[in-house]
Amino acid sequence: MTAATRPFIVGIGGTTRPGSSGEKALRVALGHAERAGARTRLFGGPELAALPLYAPEKQERNEAEVALVEAVRQADGVLVATPGYHGGVSGLVKNALDLLEDLRGDERPYLDGRAVGCIVVAAGWQGTGVTLSALRDIVHALRGWPTPLGVTINTVAVQAFAPDGSCTDAATDGQLATLAGQVLHFARATAALRSGVPA
Ligand SMILES: Cc1cc2nc3c(=O)[nH]c(=O)nc-3n(C[C@H](O)[C@H](O)[C@H](O)COP(=O)(O)O)c2cc1C
Repeated sequence: MTAATRPFIVGIGGTTRPGSSGEKALRVALGHAERAGARTRLFGGPELAALPLYAPEKQERNEAEVALVEAVRQADGVLVATPGYHGGVSGLVKNALDLLEDLRGDERPYLDGRAVGCIVVAAGWQGTGVTLSALRDIVHALRGWPTPLGVTINTVAVQAFAPDGSCTDAATDGQLATLAGQVLHFARATAALRSGVPA
């Protein structure tokens, strides 16, 4: 990306459950990014479920794996949404992140140079907090830059989404907008630094 072009933001997350609140949160955040000028691509529950279990000795990749790896390779920023499952990131989301090992040999390895906005949905405050912390540690391990804000949604305490996926809670919507804005700000700032053109 150059400062004059539209940043490409990839969203990864949610669950296979119809009506997944994590996937809804991700869609809302990606919508904010689009309205702020980004191009986006979502890898939600169905796309993540099409990924085989990551196996380090296996070289073959199916269509779903290639699509995810290539999208993240091209990405200027990333949003990740996970449910808190038993105090941590869900296996579905972690499996997708493990596949990013394919980016190890890239000029920008893993999530290098990209801001990553983290979203956690869980049924309790403890679950949201510990899972956000774990997700940020994973992003650090992948050389990504977690944004200052991480969004946590307690799905029992807050009815944040309507069945159609729209965000009905102003505070949650505002946080998802801020999160998307922080990812975009970093993408534009790093692109400007690379090109020498002010953001
Ligand atoms: C297997 C499993 C484990 C869970 N573990 C936790 C947990 O440790 N802490 C918590 O607060 N919620 C836990 N939950 C609740 C989910 O995080 C919560 O329902 C979340 O909103 C599900 O995401 P989704 O709406 O995207 O499917 C668990 C749910 C499942 C199915």
